Amino acid sequence: MAGIWSITITLSMFIYRIFFHRLRKIPGPTWMALSKWFMIRTDLKGQRPYMFQDLHKKYGDVIRAGPREVSVIDPNALSTIYGANGPGSRCTRGPWYDFTVESTKMRARNLQTVRTMPEHNARRKIWDAGFSMKAIKGYEANILDNVNLTIEQISKREKEGSIDIGQWCSWFGFDVMGELGFGRGFDMIKTGKTAHAIELLESGVILIMASGNVPYIMSLFAGLPNPITVFEGWIIETLEKRVKEGSSGCVERDVFSHLLGEEKATGQKASFPMLSADAGLLVVAGSDTSSNAMAVTLFNMLAHEEYYKRVQQEVEDVFGDHLADDLEKLNKDCPLLNGCINETLRLWPPVASGLQRVTPHEGMTLPNGTYIPGNTIISTQTYAMHRDPRNFSNPDDFIPERWLRKPGKGEIFNSKAFAAFGYGPTGCIGKNVAYHEMRAFVARFVQTFDANLESGFDVKKFKNSIKDCFVMVKPPIPVRVKTRSTSFAIL
Ligand code: HEM
Repeated sequence: MAGIWSITITLSMFIYRIFFHRLRKIPGPTWMALSKWFMIRTDLKGQRPYMFQDLHKKYGDVIRAGPREVSVIDPNALSTIYGANGPGSRCTRGPWYDFTVESTKMRARNLQTVRTMPEHNARRKIWDAGFSMKAIKGYEANILDNVNLTIEQISKREKEGSIDIGQWCSWFGFDVMGELGFGRGFDMIKTGKTAHAIELLESGVILIMASGNVPYIMSLFAGLPNPITVFEGWIIETLEKRVKEGSSGCVERDVFSHLLGEEKATGQKASFPMLSADAGLLVVAGSDTSSNAMAVTLFNMLAHEEYYKRVQQEVEDVFGDHLADDLEKLNKDCPLLNGCINETLRLWPPVASGLQRVTPHEGMTLPNGTYIPGNTIISTQTYAMHRDPRNFSNPDDFIPERWLRKPGKGEIFNSKAFAAFGYGPTGCIGKNVAYHEMRAFVARFVQTFDANLESGFDVKKFKNSIKDCFVMVKPPIPVRVKTRSTSFAIL
């Protein structure tokens, strides 16, 4: 009896969703309109951005991506959905963000998971102080020290065969973020090993991405061990130490000196659970993102060897026999280096898909005229926009020069479609820190080493294995390095 009842209810729900739902006229595959459960398989395989790219090619710029969800790849819609003014300012964050809160012990919201925009904007003001130009200046020496330490460690292993450049970038990213965030790194560069808390975090993110499709699943599994809570335990312990013992001296004023209200400029104090949620966010948002970007930049430059050599020459022309450690010069005087980084962020955006919003009560009209009713989940697809030939000519090719020149006749370069760092008031607060890290690391790497991908490394297979698990997950990138015999390479 219960079986018949369940089947009847499910069938009625499916019929309603296909034929009577207010989103029924938005094109898209039927299976997506029926239930979000079908997305779980795609997400467990990390295929979301690629699947959405195919679906948008088939069904158009605005598609139905769930029973009450739409996906958009029109760059003009970014400001409508995420902008500071207009309907975006009345959107709330989508259920995926709630799920990330539910999957922690403290159940506290961080800067990224507070639901409404006014709440977010108030909290962001406190964070902004930790990312002002002055504050970032104070992080530079720490970034450069960690770059040098990583280069030194890689150099020591030169004779041992190939090194996994992705792994070293990851250790660098986590150590920097722990140190400039709250004065305590993970010592991964020094030890050449992944810390236990980080191993668990990495195994947990794929579950968060997949289960976030059906957020209510968390209550079913609430009692089961969850790898994220071990990472959270480390964060809580570290933050307690930070509060008790103060800044450790890795940097004079770490990000948390602002969040804890130690700096007069903000003077505001959040509750401990909120602060621990913010500390977790800082590590998660600031580590894998930049480290993936710098590793894949080096991969792209090695897979297209002429770029490795040309960037090496560019850095040599600018710095001569001095260390490439002037971040201002790396930004202003090394256009090809910056072109390689931006082209990598375009081809492989570390956050590749869907930043969910829920439309305001009155709904919103997208620039192409499509009306999206209120209380609909809406997101854009960064990967698909970056690879759309209407936005960038030869979108699948690695062409760093497109960032250096005015587009030629017939060439397309739509900068409005580049959204690797998100958009508007919720866009990446750490963008300038990330560029510092990426420029400094890549420049010091090419300055110190001649390098090539391990012989037999299958470039195509590597690209096809890159997965989106909210952050990018990729196979190892085995690289052989040879320390150059020039004076600036001496450590
Ligand atoms: C290449 C590197 C990076 C990329 C591609 C990237 C990308 C992004 C994106 C797409 C968002 C928007 C997320 C959303 O709306 O839910 C974001 C937010 C954020 N990022 Fe980054 N990020 C990078 C590096 C960093 C770094 C180094 C830090 C810290 C130093 C950082 C801290 C944050 C924080 C705290 C937020 C939340 C902002 C808010 O909600 O107001 N990110 N990032």
